[in-house]
Amino acid sequence: MNSSFVSSGSSSRPLPRFPQGFLWGVSTSAFQIEGAVEEDGRGRSSWDVFVEEEGRVKDGSDARVATGHYHRYRQDVALIKELGVGAYRFSVAWPRVMPDGGPRVNTAGLDFYDRLVDELCAAGVRPVPTLFHWDTPARVEEAGGWLVRETARRFAAYAEVVADRIGDRVKRWITLNEPAELTLLGYGLGQHAPGKRLGFEALAAAHHQLLGHGLAVQALRAGGAREIGIANSHGPTWAASDSEADRRAADLYDLLLNRFFADPLLLGRYPEDLAALLPDPAAVAEDLKVISEPLDWYGINYYQPTMVGAPDPQADGPAGFAGIELPPGLPFAPREIEGYPRTDFGWPVVPAALTELLTGFRDRYGAGLPPLVITENGCAYDGIQDQERIDFLDAHLRALHEAIGAGVDVRGYFVWSLLDNFEWAEGYARRFGLVHVDYGTLARTPKASYHWLRDVLRAQR
Ligand code: FCB
Repeated sequence: MNSSFVSSGSSSRPLPRFPQGFLWGVSTSAFQIEGAVEEDGRGRSSWDVFVEEEGRVKDGSDARVATGHYHRYRQDVALIKELGVGAYRFSVAWPRVMPDGGPRVNTAGLDFYDRLVDELCAAGVRPVPTLFHWDTPARVEEAGGWLVRETARRFAAYAEVVADRIGDRVKRWITLNEPAELTLLGYGLGQHAPGKRLGFEALAAAHHQLLGHGLAVQALRAGGAREIGIANSHGPTWAASDSEADRRAADLYDLLLNRFFADPLLLGRYPEDLAALLPDPAAVAEDLKVISEPLDWYGINYYQPTMVGAPDPQADGPAGFAGIELPPGLPFAPREIEGYPRTDFGWPVVPAALTELLTGFRDRYGAGLPPLVITENGCAYDGIQDQERIDFLDAHLRALHEAIGAGVDVRGYFVWSLLDNFEWAEGYARRFGLVHVDYGTLARTPKASYHWLRDVLRAQR
């Protein structure tokens, strides 16, 4: 059915076959879909606070209702089952489980995830929870959030509580989602919660998230978990030209976005040029042993490459990038990537950069690289007849297949996202879903891309 949607461009050619046992999935996160922010005893999160501040979210919206998933999870699980994916990546809201960030546990909050996991298992879909997708309990944020070391310990204690409750049915775990974005957008540039503009001092928040990750890995493993990973965002960095200055600027950006978050996990060290920015080198050296606990797999969220050049005060004008105002004096300047289609978000569509990213990871980390999983990939386009999304996914899956053919061990692929949802500072304006959500009625309508993916997955069986 619906093969009529598969009409144009590359998508009319059947996709190549992925390896036996390859894990297909869809992703969401708690704050972006659940709603019910004042129900069941849930505490407030950094994002509840942030969205109430004037001017933080472009369309002035909040996530009080979002997609209403909290009450519609059964319908959403049915959509996942019908799609035919084997796994569902969702996140557990720390403030729903521990309203103050701990130690008090909100049993009613845990009950929700318990029901969700049961529903998924009954549908034959593997639950893949992310323990933290940016919604820091407000109390923890007030106490310094990820800028303070104590938060790492509190996070690990929370991980243990969740594992105690759903660990009998959950095999595959994700500790953190994109610590890079929370660090840079949340603490560095103030575009996301908690809205701080600390510049490079934000890197302390990165270190404490990574430490929290390592402590959570230890806690989960002590409880018997054997498939633990993380979802880090990565993308190739391209230098704007071959000039020495542009290449140096691009290297620094690459260190900050990619290697600062991958090297400590996979090599047990921070890139030298940036390590000096972290406080207390002796503690950091000890922490790195925890941070580099071997992972069972490594998750990559991929959206786009970035082009970077040396700052040029004449040409750059007021510093800005993808709508984000950058502080003056940065040692690099993002440049537009020309010559590719763009999503509604303005992000360039460059599937070959996914192949480049994955082969680059294999080359850099070699034997130390655990199996990879693409934990997010997707695009913002309006409309239910979303041929652009079909073309995007089709091209990215071919690029992924190419990397696998080149010997990169990739074991799974999750589409961002199952549903249209609350896209952080963009509000509801950016629609990433395979399923359309009418924000007036909360009605779900599978888009053309949903039907297309279902057919693709059937053909893979
Ligand atoms: C990623 C986030 C996810 C979603 C996508 C579009 O950075 O992890 O929550 O917002 O971008």
